[in-house]
Amino acid sequence: MQDLLSQALAAIGSVSTPDALEALRVQYLGKSGLVTEQMKKLGSLLPEEKKTFGAEVNVLKTKIAEALEQKKSVLEKAGLEARLASEKIDVTLPIRPETEGKIHPISQVLEEMTAIFASMGFAMEDGPDIEDDWHNFTALNTPPNHPARAMQDTFYLPGEYVLRTQTSAVQIRSMMNNKPPFKFIAGGRVYRSDWDMTHSPMFHQMEGVYIDKGIHMGHLKGCISQFLKAFFGLEQVPLRFRPSFFPFTEPSAEVDIGCKKSKESLEIGKGSDWLEILGCGMIHPEVLKNVGLDPNEWQGFAFGMGVERLVMLKYGIPDLRAFYETDLRWLKNYGFRALDIPTIARGVA
Ligand code: DAH
Repeated sequence: MQDLLSQALAAIGSVSTPDALEALRVQYLGKSGLVTEQMKKLGSLLPEEKKTFGAEVNVLKTKIAEALEQKKSVLEKAGLEARLASEKIDVTLPIRPETEGKIHPISQVLEEMTAIFASMGFAMEDGPDIEDDWHNFTALNTPPNHPARAMQDTFYLPGEYVLRTQTSAVQIRSMMNNKPPFKFIAGGRVYRSDWDMTHSPMFHQMEGVYIDKGIHMGHLKGCISQFLKAFFGLEQVPLRFRPSFFPFTEPSAEVDIGCKKSKESLEIGKGSDWLEILGCGMIHPEVLKNVGLDPNEWQGFAFGMGVERLVMLKYGIPDLRAFYETDLRWLKNYGFRALDIPTIARGVA
């Protein structure tokens, strides 16, 4: 019986899983287990033998049962600890530094431009991509058969509709919906039937309008140079206002920015080259009349610029076509982090 006990205790001591422990319980204490067999012998013993043997078997049984119980709780505790260790989550870890999503450079630059113009008091206006001919052309002093219509390769839609060729169409809507004085910008998509290295059939423009009494070209120049300095983060930007023609402005100008062009790079604000970046002018009296404003009372300036061009210049992106190819590698390289929202306070340059 002593042998049986030490055998059992050694076996219990060495098992390491609940299943193996249960097998030992069956082996010793089960219906036909080793201890149970001993108890069965009791019936064939003499009364005085029965007493001592019975007491010994009972002790054996109790000791083994206790050892099994103790080991069981040890194994359960170890199992719980292993689970807690493997399922551990450190809630104090910082969030992943890079999320997969990126903000497209065009969206980012539209936000930057908006932040700068908002700081100068410009409100934001919006118009439809599918525009009627009147808003896109006629009200902008470009009636049917006007030669200036040939300046833009328009996508015509059934009826009197077009895909807007310029955000200038929003000028008309906004001037009709607001009482002067006002100043607003309008950014968004525009469309022209053109497709090569430097032209896409869909691109983006931002328009600006300022109407008040006594507005003149000096205000326009100040506004444009203020914007460009803030946008490129430069103390000074060399600017050239070159006489031009747009049907909806008189006088009209195109603005060139001073830069240094070389085969490998283009530096804004240096050198002796010029690069055209926007069109502008004093709003034509006919346009003011078309939106119900008296040109003798109200004057204003307007400007419009291509957003892609500004993106390419500011962030050194060489090829326009890549903007629309939805290539994730390109977006990861040139895109912006989702939480880098441009504000004047944090700096947009
Ligand atoms: N809409 C013109 C274009 O797409 C750009 C432009 C020129 C807008 C002069 C203006 C402006 O508001 O005054 O080429």
